[in-house]
Amino acid sequence: MNNKQIIFKKRPSGVPQSDTWQLENNEVPELEEGEILIQHHYISLDPAMRGWMNDTKSYIPPIAIDDVMRAGSIGKVIKNNGNPKFEIGDVVTSWGGVQQYAITNGDGWYKVDTRLAPMPMYIGTLGMPGMTAYFGITEVGKIKEGDIVLVSGAAGAVGSIVGQIAKIKGCKVIGIAGGKEKCDYVVNELGFDDAIDYKSENIYSALKEKCPKGIDVYFDNVGGLILNAALSKLRMHARVVICGAISQYNNKSKIDGPSNYLSLLVTRSTMQGMVVMDYAKDYGKAAMQMGKWMQEGKLKSREDIYEGIENFQETYHRLFSGDKNGKLVLKVIED
Ligand SMILES: NC(=O)c1ccc[n+]([C@@H]2O[C@H](COP(=O)([O-])OP(=O)(O)OC[C@H]3O[C@@H](n4cnc5c(N)ncnc54)[C@H](OP(=O)(O)O)[C@@H]3O)[C@@H](O)[C@H]2O)c1
Repeated sequence: MNNKQIIFKKRPSGVPQSDTWQLENNEVPELEEGEILIQHHYISLDPAMRGWMNDTKSYIPPIAIDDVMRAGSIGKVIKNNGNPKFEIGDVVTSWGGVQQYAITNGDGWYKVDTRLAPMPMYIGTLGMPGMTAYFGITEVGKIKEGDIVLVSGAAGAVGSIVGQIAKIKGCKVIGIAGGKEKCDYVVNELGFDDAIDYKSENIYSALKEKCPKGIDVYFDNVGGLILNAALSKLRMHARVVICGAISQYNNKSKIDGPSNYLSLLVTRSTMQGMVVMDYAKDYGKAAMQMGKWMQEGKLKSREDIYEGIENFQETYHRLFSGDKNGKLVLKVIED
């Protein structure tokens, strides 16, 4: 049995190139005692993958050269060599990497119930990005009814959920996204109050017009100029959630920091970074709440699915070009 794998071959400088990864077709080894074999159905493509390729200190170690490219994944247990925690047919999710099959002793793998939600949703809204949105906006953003919330990357996996949760909690929500179609989507489909198209509007004038009273919470997914502009609109005791900085991930030089940071001083505001894994013990509770909101029709989830391990590279680049709608997923095999 062979396993198509995307192997990390060379640390990129700037945007990853064709020599960053190599597609290999390697034989699946025999299972050792206690191991299970998982056939992947879907792989999660996330902006964080770019950061994991850098040989720098971060919240987890960088991917080693010649390792399988790190990625979240979901699939089915198809072989079990004496692991009592799993059965053949169990649907399980964890960090299986960009490959058709993963072998593991089961540590860190969780069973999910596909009668409640389809597989791709467990690596999106009910998985890591959804948990990021939930804990980022409630625990770090500390939203309360009546807050004015600004969120960038608003049509993406995290931002789309952040904005919807803030609406559920009674906030006024303004999203920032690239292009009219995505702006229309967050307002008309997801119920945001307004949206700013950062690709065609001047961000400072748009914030002046759409947030005339300023903002209580800024949920930052993109960094750079948009973060700087948002800092200029803080109200007293505002909270800035540093979730990510996708506009900076492919920089060849240093990340651009915000020159407007003294507005934190003037408004007695806080700016706090977050890493979703810190909330792992409460994922179950959050997923239950999100599932309930979905059932009640209050929370919508959108996955954008492309097929084939061999199409990993071109699909990965959609994260940064924005040429995708919602959570980006690579399909390996039909459910
Ligand atoms: N801290 C954590 O624990 C944690 C966990 C998960 C994710 N994150 C971070 O959260 C952010 C969003 O992740 P996600 O999963 O929602 O990703 P996503 O679904 O890919 O959404 C990101 C969106 O960012 C926009 N974008 C790309 N380049 C941009 C640029 N130069 N300027 C402005 N917008 C740009 C694109 O949409 P447009 O078409 O609108 O430009 C893209 O679709 C990322 O920064 C990610 O690293 C952090």
